[in-house]
Amino acid sequence: MASERQISLFPGLGDARNVAKPTNVASVPQYSPFRYPGGKTWFVPVFRRWIVSLPERPARLIEPFAGGGVISLTAIMEGLVDQVVMVELDEDVAAVWHTILAGNAEWLAKRILAFDISVETVQAELAKKPGTIKEKGFQTILRNRVLHGGILARGASFIKKGENGKGIASRWYAKTLARRIMRIAEISDKIQFIHGDGLEIMVAASEAPDAAFFVDPPYTAGGKRAGRRLYTHHELDHPRLFSLCSQIQGPFLMTYDDTEEVKNLAARFGFQAGHVAMKNTHHATRHELVISSDLSWL
Ligand SMILES: C[S@@+](CC[C@H](N)C(=O)[O-])C[C@H]1O[C@@H](n2cnc3c(N)ncnc32)[C@H](O)[C@@H]1O
Repeated sequence: MASERQISLFPGLGDARNVAKPTNVASVPQYSPFRYPGGKTWFVPVFRRWIVSLPERPARLIEPFAGGGVISLTAIMEGLVDQVVMVELDEDVAAVWHTILAGNAEWLAKRILAFDISVETVQAELAKKPGTIKEKGFQTILRNRVLHGGILARGASFIKKGENGKGIASRWYAKTLARRIMRIAEISDKIQFIHGDGLEIMVAASEAPDAAFFVDPPYTAGGKRAGRRLYTHHELDHPRLFSLCSQIQGPFLMTYDDTEEVKNLAARFGFQAGHVAMKNTHHATRHELVISSDLSWL
Protein backbone atom coordinates (compact mmCIF):
# COMPACT_ATOMS: atom_id res chain seq x y z
CA MET A 1 0.00 0.00 0.00
CA ALA A 2 1.13 3.52 -0.72
CA SER A 3 1.98 5.43 2.43
CA GLU A 4 0.72 8.93 3.16
CA ARG A 5 4.22 10.18 2.60
CA GLN A 6 4.23 8.91 -0.93
CA ILE A 7 5.51 11.59 -3.20
CA SER A 8 4.03 12.54 -6.51
CA LEU A 9 5.05 10.28 -9.33
CA PHE A 10 3.68 12.29 -12.16
CA PRO A 11 5.30 14.55 -14.77
CA GLY A 12 7.94 16.75 -13.21
CA LEU A 13 7.47 14.66 -10.05
CA GLY A 14 5.54 17.51 -8.41
CA ASP A 15 6.56 17.59 -4.77
CA ALA A 16 8.98 14.73 -5.20
CA ARG A 17 12.28 14.86 -3.41
CA ASN A 18 15.19 15.78 -5.59
CA VAL A 19 18.93 15.90 -5.59
CA ALA A 20 19.39 18.74 -8.01
CA LYS A 21 23.15 19.15 -8.01
CA PRO A 22 25.20 16.52 -9.83
CA THR A 23 28.04 14.88 -7.91
CA ASN A 24 31.55 15.96 -8.75
CA VAL A 25 32.79 12.44 -9.53
CA ALA A 26 36.40 13.49 -9.07
CA SER A 27 35.62 13.77 -5.34
CA VAL A 28 34.45 10.14 -5.09
CA PRO A 29 37.10 7.50 -4.28
CA GLN A 30 37.26 4.86 -7.00
CA TYR A 31 37.62 1.23 -5.98
CA SER A 32 36.52 -0.71 -9.08
CA PRO A 33 38.91 -1.86 -11.81
CA PHE A 34 36.09 -1.47 -14.35
CA ARG A 35 34.95 1.61 -16.21
CA TYR A 36 31.46 0.30 -16.35
CA PRO A 37 28.69 1.55 -18.64
CA GLY A 38 25.97 2.79 -16.30
CA GLY A 39 28.51 2.71 -13.46
CA LYS A 40 27.28 4.37 -10.29
CA THR A 41 30.23 6.47 -9.11
CA TRP A 42 28.08 9.59 -9.44
CA PHE A 43 25.48 7.97 -7.18
CA VAL A 44 27.85 7.21 -4.28
CA PRO A 45 26.98 10.28 -2.13
CA VAL A 46 23.26 9.47 -2.41
CA PHE A 47 23.89 5.82 -1.55
CA ARG A 48 25.92 6.78 1.52
CA ARG A 49 23.16 9.06 2.70
CA TRP A 50 20.59 6.28 2.32
CA ILE A 51 22.53 3.56 4.08
CA VAL A 52 23.38 5.65 7.13
CA SER A 53 19.77 6.82 7.36
CA LEU A 54 18.45 3.28 7.90
CA PRO A 55 17.06 2.69 11.40
CA GLU A 56 19.38 -0.32 11.76
CA ARG A 57 22.78 -0.73 10.19
CA PRO A 58 22.47 -3.62 7.72
CA ALA A 59 25.00 -6.41 8.17
CA ARG A 60 24.96 -7.21 4.47
CA LEU A 61 24.50 -5.34 1.24
CA ILE A 62 23.22 -7.36 -1.69
CA GLU A 63 23.75 -5.97 -5.18
CA PRO A 64 21.77 -8.17 -7.62
CA PHE A 65 23.05 -6.35 -10.76
CA ALA A 66 26.62 -5.73 -9.73
CA GLY A 67 28.45 -4.93 -13.00
CA GLY A 68 31.58 -3.05 -11.95
CA GLY A 69 30.45 -3.18 -8.33
CA VAL A 70 30.97 0.51 -7.50
CA ILE A 71 28.37 0.61 -4.75
CA SER A 72 29.29 -2.74 -3.15
CA LEU A 73 32.96 -1.83 -3.10
CA THR A 74 32.23 1.59 -1.61
CA ALA A 75 30.04 0.03 1.08
CA ILE A 76 32.67 -2.46 2.15
CA MET A 77 35.73 -0.20 1.82
CA GLU A 78 34.03 2.51 3.84
CA GLY A 79 32.78 0.14 6.56
CA LEU A 80 29.12 0.88 5.85
CA VAL A 81 28.28 -2.87 6.05
CA ASP A 82 30.18 -5.99 7.15
CA GLN A 83 29.61 -8.13 4.06
CA VAL A 84 28.61 -7.57 0.45
CA VAL A 85 27.08 -10.01 -2.01
CA MET A 86 27.60 -9.08 -5.65
CA VAL A 87 25.59 -10.89 -8.31
CA GLU A 88 26.18 -10.63 -12.05
CA LEU A 89 24.98 -12.68 -15.00
CA ASP A 90 27.64 -11.70 -17.54
CA GLU A 91 30.28 -14.44 -17.66
CA ASP A 92 33.11 -12.15 -18.78
CA VAL A 93 32.46 -9.75 -15.92
CA ALA A 94 32.09 -12.73 -13.58
CA ALA A 95 35.53 -13.99 -14.67
CA VAL A 96 37.12 -10.76 -13.40
CA TRP A 97 35.45 -10.99 -10.00
CA HIS A 98 36.26 -14.68 -9.67
CA THR A 99 39.88 -14.03 -10.56
CA ILE A 100 40.27 -11.25 -7.99
CA LEU A 101 38.33 -12.91 -5.19
CA ALA A 102 39.45 -16.51 -5.60
CA GLY A 103 43.21 -16.20 -5.19
CA ASN A 104 44.41 -14.89 -8.55
CA ALA A 105 44.44 -11.15 -7.88
CA GLU A 106 48.21 -10.97 -7.82
CA TRP A 107 48.44 -12.89 -11.09
CA LEU A 108 45.96 -10.44 -12.66
CA ALA A 109 47.72 -7.36 -11.29
CA LYS A 110 51.08 -8.59 -12.61
CA ARG A 111 49.58 -9.50 -15.97
CA ILE A 112 48.19 -5.96 -16.29
CA LEU A 113 51.48 -4.36 -15.26
CA ALA A 114 53.43 -6.46 -17.73
CA PHE A 115 51.15 -5.83 -20.70
CA ASP A 116 52.77 -3.58 -23.28
CA ILE A 117 49.75 -1.87 -24.78
CA SER A 118 49.44 -1.03 -28.49
CA VAL A 119 46.83 -1.65 -31.19
CA GLU A 120 48.82 -4.73 -32.29
CA THR A 121 49.25 -6.26 -28.80
CA VAL A 122 45.58 -5.65 -27.96
CA GLN A 123 44.42 -7.28 -31.19
CA ALA A 124 46.76 -10.25 -30.69
CA GLU A 125 45.65 -10.71 -27.08
CA LEU A 126 41.94 -10.48 -27.83
CA ALA A 127 42.23 -12.92 -30.73
CA LYS A 128 43.25 -15.66 -28.28
CA LYS A 129 40.69 -18.04 -26.90
CA PRO A 130 41.09 -17.84 -23.12
CA GLY A 131 41.88 -21.25 -21.66
CA THR A 132 41.28 -20.36 -18.01
CA ILE A 133 39.02 -18.10 -15.98
CA LYS A 134 41.92 -15.84 -15.04
CA GLU A 135 42.88 -15.38 -18.70
CA LYS A 136 39.26 -14.56 -19.48
CA GLY A 137 39.36 -12.10 -16.56
CA PHE A 138 42.43 -10.40 -17.99
CA GLN A 139 40.91 -10.19 -21.47
CA THR A 140 37.73 -8.68 -20.01
CA ILE A 141 39.62 -5.95 -18.16
CA LEU A 142 41.60 -5.24 -21.31
CA ARG A 143 38.45 -5.04 -23.47
CA ASN A 144 36.73 -2.91 -20.88
CA ARG A 145 39.63 -0.45 -21.02
CA VAL A 146 40.09 -0.26 -24.80
CA LEU A 147 36.48 -0.26 -26.01
CA HIS A 148 34.40 2.90 -26.28
CA GLY A 149 32.59 3.65 -23.04
CA GLY A 150 33.86 0.38 -21.54
CA ILE A 151 31.04 -1.34 -23.40
CA LEU A 152 31.62 -5.10 -23.42
CA ALA A 153 28.50 -6.01 -25.41
CA ARG A 154 28.90 -7.16 -28.99
CA GLY A 155 29.27 -4.36 -31.53
CA ALA A 156 31.40 -2.05 -29.36
CA SER A 157 34.35 -0.41 -31.10
CA PHE A 158 37.90 0.42 -29.99
CA ILE A 159 38.77 3.84 -28.59
CA LYS A 160 40.46 5.62 -31.48
CA LYS A 161 41.52 9.08 -30.38
CA GLY A 162 40.93 8.82 -26.66
CA GLU A 163 42.16 11.20 -23.97
CA ASN A 164 44.81 13.63 -25.21
CA GLY A 165 45.05 11.66 -28.44
CA LYS A 166 46.55 8.72 -26.53
CA GLY A 167 44.35 6.37 -28.50
CA ILE A 168 43.86 2.81 -27.37
CA ALA A 169 46.05 3.31 -24.27
CA SER A 170 44.14 6.33 -23.02
CA ARG A 171 42.18 4.41 -20.35
CA TRP A 172 44.86 1.83 -19.54
CA TYR A 173 46.13 2.97 -16.14
CA ALA A 174 48.05 -0.20 -15.34
CA LYS A 175 49.40 0.81 -11.92
CA THR A 176 46.05 2.15 -10.74
CA LEU A 177 44.26 -0.99 -11.91
CA ALA A 178 46.80 -3.26 -10.23
CA ARG A 179 46.51 -1.29 -6.98
CA ARG A 180 42.71 -1.43 -7.00
CA ILE A 181 42.73 -5.17 -7.68
CA MET A 182 45.13 -5.88 -4.80
CA ARG A 183 43.11 -3.70 -2.46
CA ILE A 184 39.93 -5.65 -3.24
CA ALA A 185 41.79 -8.95 -2.75
CA GLU A 186 42.90 -7.86 0.72
CA ILE A 187 39.27 -7.76 1.87
CA SER A 188 38.02 -10.66 -0.24
CA ASP A 189 36.71 -12.45 2.87
CA LYS A 190 34.05 -9.73 3.08
CA ILE A 191 32.93 -10.00 -0.54
CA GLN A 192 30.88 -12.82 -1.97
CA PHE A 193 30.50 -12.91 -5.72
CA ILE A 194 27.78 -14.99 -7.35
CA HIS A 195 27.70 -15.58 -11.10
CA GLY A 196 23.97 -15.90 -11.56
CA ASP A 197 20.56 -14.32 -11.81
CA GLY A 198 20.10 -11.39 -9.44
CA LEU A 199 16.35 -11.99 -9.26
CA GLU A 200 16.89 -15.50 -7.94
CA ILE A 201 19.28 -14.23 -5.29
CA MET A 202 16.67 -11.67 -4.25
CA VAL A 203 14.17 -14.48 -3.81
CA ALA A 204 16.68 -16.51 -1.77
CA ALA A 205 17.52 -13.54 0.49
CA SER A 206 14.01 -12.11 0.71
CA GLU A 207 13.54 -13.12 4.34
CA ALA A 208 16.85 -11.83 5.63
CA PRO A 209 16.00 -8.82 7.82
CA ASP A 210 19.63 -7.69 8.11
CA ALA A 211 20.28 -7.44 4.36
CA ALA A 212 19.88 -4.22 2.38
CA PHE A 213 19.59 -4.27 -1.42
CA PHE A 214 21.04 -1.85 -3.92
CA VAL A 215 19.27 -2.55 -7.21
CA ASP A 216 20.66 -1.08 -10.43
CA PRO A 217 19.16 -3.08 -13.31
CA PRO A 218 19.77 -2.63 -17.04
CA TYR A 219 17.52 0.23 -18.12
CA THR A 220 15.29 -1.52 -20.60
CA ALA A 221 11.80 -0.98 -19.15
CA GLY A 222 9.31 0.00 -21.84
CA GLY A 223 11.67 -1.18 -24.58
CA LYS A 224 14.33 1.50 -23.87
CA ARG A 225 17.29 1.00 -26.15
CA ALA A 226 20.24 2.23 -24.03
CA GLY A 227 20.44 -0.86 -21.86
CA ARG A 228 20.28 -3.11 -24.93
CA ARG A 229 23.34 -1.57 -26.49
CA LEU A 230 25.34 -1.51 -23.25
CA TYR A 231 24.96 -5.02 -21.88
CA THR A 232 24.96 -8.54 -23.23
CA HIS A 233 22.30 -9.39 -20.65
CA HIS A 234 19.63 -6.76 -20.94
CA GLU A 235 16.36 -8.68 -20.99
CA LEU A 236 14.65 -8.28 -17.64
CA ASP A 237 11.20 -8.84 -16.23
CA HIS A 238 10.88 -5.35 -14.71
CA PRO A 239 7.44 -5.88 -13.09
CA ARG A 240 8.85 -9.00 -11.41
CA LEU A 241 11.79 -7.00 -10.10
CA PHE A 242 9.42 -4.44 -8.58
CA SER A 243 7.32 -7.21 -7.14
CA LEU A 244 10.39 -8.80 -5.52
CA CYS A 245 11.37 -5.43 -4.04
CA SER A 246 7.93 -5.29 -2.43
CA GLN A 247 8.44 -8.76 -0.92
CA ILE A 248 11.92 -8.50 0.59
CA GLN A 249 12.13 -7.86 4.32
CA GLY A 250 15.19 -5.65 4.22
CA PRO A 251 15.33 -2.10 2.83
CA PHE A 252 16.06 -1.50 -0.84
CA LEU A 253 17.20 1.35 -3.02
CA MET A 254 16.66 1.21 -6.77
CA THR A 255 17.92 3.40 -9.58
CA TYR A 256 16.28 3.62 -12.97
CA ASP A 257 16.00 5.86 -15.94
CA ASP A 258 13.24 8.42 -15.81
CA THR A 259 10.45 6.93 -17.93
CA GLU A 260 6.69 6.73 -17.63
CA GLU A 261 6.81 2.92 -17.46
CA VAL A 262 9.12 3.01 -14.48
CA LYS A 263 7.16 5.72 -12.68
CA ASN A 264 3.97 3.74 -13.25
CA LEU A 265 5.56 0.60 -11.85
CA ALA A 266 6.76 2.51 -8.77
CA ALA A 267 3.25 3.88 -8.25
CA ARG A 268 1.72 0.43 -8.73
CA PHE A 269 3.82 -1.01 -5.93
CA GLY A 270 3.37 1.98 -3.61
CA PHE A 271 7.02 3.03 -3.74
CA GLN A 272 8.37 6.55 -3.60
CA ALA A 273 10.38 7.99 -6.46
CA GLY A 274 12.61 11.04 -6.70
CA HIS A 275 15.05 12.63 -9.11
CA VAL A 276 18.80 12.60 -8.76
CA ALA A 277 20.85 14.82 -11.06
CA MET A 278 23.87 13.44 -12.86
CA LYS A 279 26.20 14.55 -15.60
CA ASN A 280 26.34 12.26 -18.61
CA THR A 281 29.46 11.54 -20.66
CA HIS A 282 28.81 14.71 -22.69
CA HIS A 283 28.74 16.75 -19.43
CA ALA A 284 25.05 17.54 -19.84
CA THR A 285 22.96 17.36 -16.66
CA ARG A 286 20.15 14.86 -16.69
CA HIS A 287 18.10 13.04 -14.09
CA GLU A 288 17.71 9.46 -13.06
CA LEU A 289 15.09 8.04 -10.78
CA VAL A 290 15.74 6.79 -7.31
CA ILE A 291 13.05 4.50 -5.93
CA SER A 292 12.48 3.08 -2.47
CA SER A 293 9.72 2.44 0.01
CA ASP A 294 10.80 5.57 1.90
CA LEU A 295 12.72 8.54 0.53
CA SER A 296 12.40 10.84 3.56
CA TRP A 297 16.21 10.84 3.90
CA LEU A 298 16.77 12.19 0.34
C1 LIG B 1 23.26 -0.86 -14.82
S1 LIG B 1 24.39 -2.20 -14.84
C2 LIG B 1 25.04 -2.21 -13.19
C3 LIG B 1 26.16 -1.21 -13.01
C4 LIG B 1 26.74 -1.20 -11.62
N1 LIG B 1 25.80 -0.64 -10.67
C5 LIG B 1 28.05 -0.42 -11.56
O1 LIG B 1 28.13 0.62 -10.87
O2 LIG B 1 29.00 -0.85 -12.21
C6 LIG B 1 23.34 -3.61 -14.88
C7 LIG B 1 24.05 -4.95 -14.87
O3 LIG B 1 23.09 -6.01 -14.67
C8 LIG B 1 23.56 -7.16 -15.35
N2 LIG B 1 22.42 -8.08 -15.47
C9 LIG B 1 21.40 -8.06 -16.36
N3 LIG B 1 20.47 -8.99 -16.04
C10 LIG B 1 20.91 -9.61 -14.92
C11 LIG B 1 20.38 -10.61 -14.07
N4 LIG B 1 19.20 -11.20 -14.33
N5 LIG B 1 21.07 -10.97 -12.97
C12 LIG B 1 22.27 -10.40 -12.69
N6 LIG B 1 22.83 -9.42 -13.45
C13 LIG B 1 22.15 -9.02 -14.54
C14 LIG B 1 24.14 -6.62 -16.63
O4 LIG B 1 25.05 -7.54 -17.20
C15 LIG B 1 24.82 -5.34 -16.13
O5 LIG B 1 26.15 -5.59 -15.77
